[in-house]
Amino acid sequence: PPISPLSITFDGQTGTMSPEGPVLTRRMSDLAGLFADTAAWEAAVADGDPVVYQVASSPVPEAEGELPQSITTILPGTVAGEFHMTKGHQHPNPQGEIYLGLSGTGGLLLFDGERPQWIDMAPGVIGYIPPGWAHRSVNTGDEPYRFLAVYPGNAGHDYGWVLANGMGHRVYRGEGATPRFEPFTATP
Ligand code: 6PG
Ligand code: NI
Repeated sequence: PPISPLSITFDGQTGTMSPEGPVLTRRMSDLAGLFADTAAWEAAVADGDPVVYQVASSPVPEAEGELPQSITTILPGTVAGEFHMTKGHQHPNPQGEIYLGLSGTGGLLLFDGERPQWIDMAPGVIGYIPPGWAHRSVNTGDEPYRFLAVYPGNAGHDYGWVLANGMGHRVYRGEGATPRFEPFTATP
């Protein structure tokens, strides 16, 4: 049955929602095949397998017609200079998605298979993901980067597409606050 109308409160500084649905934790070992420097990634997995990001969901189900929300918290850090990031995915049932920056600084890397695009994200910024664009979030700062995502409940999540096609760019710590972009190279 469809969910009843509800109010959800969230804390943009901690990334929690109330009432809260499932919370997903992605550790370094869950990001196999994504960072360019495989040896550095293996060393991080061996050295405590740190949490890279968490996704707290509201109770709204991933069902046709619904609009589920989640808050992603990406902890700061790099793997051989490449910023902590989400796995990234395509929505197999292509539909738009909205991100709202809550705390920290980061970016939204989008890729349609040909053109990489970048949106700087910070508190108060809405990043819009059009249908058909794969998306990955990157923490480009020194504190947790958090954003709220709202997406159609029947969009689905395809992670294999990003493993096969990459995201067009890789994002590294650069000079000062400006990230450095390099063309995507397949992980060996
Ligand atoms: C979504 C959103 C977002 C995303 C998380 C984690 O479609 O649900 O894009 O909530 O899932 O930021 O990123 P990954 O799904 O790529 O691990
Ligand atoms: Ni998405």
